[in-house]
Amino acid sequence: MQIIDGKAVSAAVRDRIKTEVENLKNMGKETGLAVIIVGNDPASKVYVSNKKKGCEQVGMNSYEYALPEETTTEELLELIEKLNGDTKIDGILCQLPLPRHIDEKTVINSIAPQKDVDAFHPVNTGHIMIGDHSFLPCTPAGIIEMLKYYNIQISGKECVVIGRSNIVGKPMAMLLLQNSGTVTVCHSKTENLSDVTRRADILVAAVGKANFVTADMIKDGAVVIDVGMNRNAEGKLCGDVDFENVKDKCSYITPVPGGVGPMTITMLLNNTLTASKNNM
Ligand code: GUN
Repeated sequence: MQIIDGKAVSAAVRDRIKTEVENLKNMGKETGLAVIIVGNDPASKVYVSNKKKGCEQVGMNSYEYALPEETTTEELLELIEKLNGDTKIDGILCQLPLPRHIDEKTVINSIAPQKDVDAFHPVNTGHIMIGDHSFLPCTPAGIIEMLKYYNIQISGKECVVIGRSNIVGKPMAMLLLQNSGTVTVCHSKTENLSDVTRRADILVAAVGKANFVTADMIKDGAVVIDVGMNRNAEGKLCGDVDFENVKDKCSYITPVPGGVGPMTITMLLNNTLTASKNNM
């Protein structure tokens, strides 16, 4: 069994991004990311702070817009409209979830597709479906990048994704399909879940429940990718996979923390670099 080191893959990709950002700067093009956060969600604050640190690390400018909880949809749309027209800003990221009174769909749809570095806008999700994307959804793209780094073959393999969210499950299935995997998507209504997951050569868990994936759900020698970010009873960060019991059945497994997490931000930086190049 080999542990997939998301930090190591991340460092390699960030080195390449840093060089490219520097080259752009030498040609007179700086790269800027606007990061919007609304309200006081502690987890969101940590994510946003890590995204800003990531920018710094690769030589990008980050501009934070921390708005109060009571911000209206209209106020947020006004800010996004301003950023859409601001040439210093190559990418716009609005941290989700937004407070409940804000219309999330309208907000996502208002970000100019060429600045939508999360790839959440319907225009970009459509491009992903067809396979002619310029931005890839960060978490799924990070997972594909890790698999490639470890020379793990996707083509022809049974790939099972647990979870069907717009951010992870659905685009993950699409990217595995584009890499010629045979893809099954499971969700809360799936019958006989462990019969399906036991077929998986590559299993991606994006459920949001600690220890959801147990050893009896794993085929011997499977590659297990854990997207979960949960807190257990002791408040410790843990994934969706019962790591201790599952690891010995796997050929490869991602830990939490230190697996998928670092890659997600790295792919955001990669999308911002793409946006910057397109914006020259
Ligand atoms: N909330 C959870 N994941 C993400 C993400 O990838 N991007 C944004 N903007 N918000 C999130």
